[in-house]
Amino acid sequence: MTSDHWQTIKALPQASLEHLFAEDSDRVGNLGLEQSGLYFDFSKTHLDKRAMDAFQKLADDAQLSTKVNALFAGEPVNVSEGRAAEHGAERGTGNPTSVDNAHALHQRMRSLIGAIEAAALGEFTQIIHLGIGGSALGPKMLHQALKLGDEKYELAVVSNIDGAALEPVLERFTAEKTLLVVASKTFTTAETLLNAQSVLDWMREQGITDPLGQVVALTADPEQAVEWGVDETRILPFSETVGGRYSLWSSIGFSVALALGYDVFEDLLAGAAAMDRHFQEASWDKNIPVLAAFADQYYTQVRGCDTRAVFAYDERLGLLPDYLQQLEMESNGKSVTLEGEALSLQSSPIVWGGVGTDAQHAVFQLLHQGSHLVPVEFLAVVEPGDSLSPAHHNGLLLNCFAQGAALMAGKKSDDSHRNYPGDRPSVTILLEEMEASSLGALLAFYEHRTFVNAVLLNINPFDQFGVELGKQMANKLADDDGNRLDASTEELKKRAFGAE
Ligand code: F6P
Repeated sequence: MTSDHWQTIKALPQASLEHLFAEDSDRVGNLGLEQSGLYFDFSKTHLDKRAMDAFQKLADDAQLSTKVNALFAGEPVNVSEGRAAEHGAERGTGNPTSVDNAHALHQRMRSLIGAIEAAALGEFTQIIHLGIGGSALGPKMLHQALKLGDEKYELAVVSNIDGAALEPVLERFTAEKTLLVVASKTFTTAETLLNAQSVLDWMREQGITDPLGQVVALTADPEQAVEWGVDETRILPFSETVGGRYSLWSSIGFSVALALGYDVFEDLLAGAAAMDRHFQEASWDKNIPVLAAFADQYYTQVRGCDTRAVFAYDERLGLLPDYLQQLEMESNGKSVTLEGEALSLQSSPIVWGGVGTDAQHAVFQLLHQGSHLVPVEFLAVVEPGDSLSPAHHNGLLLNCFAQGAALMAGKKSDDSHRNYPGDRPSVTILLEEMEASSLGALLAFYEHRTFVNAVLLNINPFDQFGVELGKQMANKLADDDGNRLDASTEELKKRAFGAE
C-alpha cells in the first residue's frame, strides 16, 4: 500500500544537521512547538521540508486522518481482538456514550475517595497498590513525579512476584492503617493476586478480622473481583476497551487520585484532553505526536536505528523510561500487519534510557562515539523540584542542553580516539513546571505518537499476544503434571527445586 512513499523516503538526500540549520534560518521556530505547558524542540532531528512532505504523503496514503477519527469514534481499531481503544474517552475525548460511561465511573471513584477521606472504611493513612505492567507503571511514575512529601497518605506500589518487593513494605506499614488496592484489568494476573493474598495473610496475622473489608479493586472484570472476595461497593470498574498500558486515566489512577487529591487527577485528565484536541486538529506539519512519529520512522527505517533513548533530566521523572518501554514496545513490538501479513518494515525500536546527569557518566560514551546511531530524547523541567542552591537545577538544565548540542555539533580531532563525529539527533521536551496537566499532555502525546507509528507501519498497537506464551509456560512448569519442557529448562528447575 505505502511502498512507493517508503521508497521516496528512503531515497531522500541525507543532509547533516549542520547543513539543515544553515539552510533554514528559522529552523528552531519552524520545528519548536508549544502545547499545554510543554515545549517540543524537533530542530535537532534530520526532518526537513522534503522529508516532511514525503512523510505527509505517506500519512495520507496510510489514511492517518481516517484512522485518528476511527480511534476517537470508538470503532474497533483493535482488529485482532475486535474492540475499540477508548483511553481518550476517559479524559472526555471520544464517542459520547463512552465518554458518559467513563464520566459516571469517575464519579463513582470520586465518591469512594470521599468516603475513604471521611474515614468511612477505617482510619487509613497508608495505601498498598498492587498491580503489574499497565496496572502499576503509570500510578507509580505519576506519584513519583507529583508527590510533595507532605501528603496524608503514604503510597507503596508493588508489582513484582518477588517477595523481596512486598516484604519491606509490610515491615514498614501498619495493617489497620493500610488500604489495599488491587489493580488488575483482568483480575487474573498471577503476580498481583499472589501479592494480594500475601497482604491479606499479613493483615490477618496483625489481628485484622476482616481484611477483605480493607480492599478496593480496580478492574474491567468486576465479576472476577467479586469471586475473589471483594465487596461490590469497593470495586471500581473501567471499560474493557481501555488497554492496560493506556489505563492510567481510568480507575487504575485511583491510588494516585487518593494519595495526591482528586483535583490533581482531574488536572491530569484535562492536560491529556488538551493534547487529544491538538492531535485531532493540528495539521500534520504542526502536529506534535505526528512529527515525533515521522522522526521515529525516519531513524528506524532510513537510518537503521534499532533503539531510541529517553533521558529525564529530573529525578521526579525517573520512572518515565520504564513507563514508555511498556507503552511503545508492548504496543508496537509486532511483526505482522493489520491483515496478519509479515511486516516488511522494522517495528518499534527498543526504548531505553535513564536519568541525567547520572547517565552521562555511564552510557553516554556510546551515544557520542559508539557505532550505533541512537536518536535521543531529553526531558527537563524549567521549575526546580528542590530548594537547594540554584546551582543544582541550573547545572542540571545546562548539562541537558549541552548534551544535545554536543551530540549534534561533535568535535573533529586528528586523533581518532578523541574525535566526536557529531550529527547525532535529539529531541528536547521542556516542561514549564511539574504539573499534573503538563504530565497528562505529555503522556497523551506519547500515546498518540505510538498510534501514529502503528498507522504508518500498518500494525495493531492495541493487542499484546507476545506476552501470553511465557505466562502459559510458567503455569505449565508450576503445574508439575508430568509434562516436560526442554532439557535445559528441566535442569534449571531441578537445580532450583531439587530432583523429583
Ligand atoms: O502481561 C502483559 C499485561 O497483560 C499488560 O498488558 C498489562 O498491563 C499487565 O499484563 C497487567 O495485566 P492486568 O491489569 O490484567 O493484571
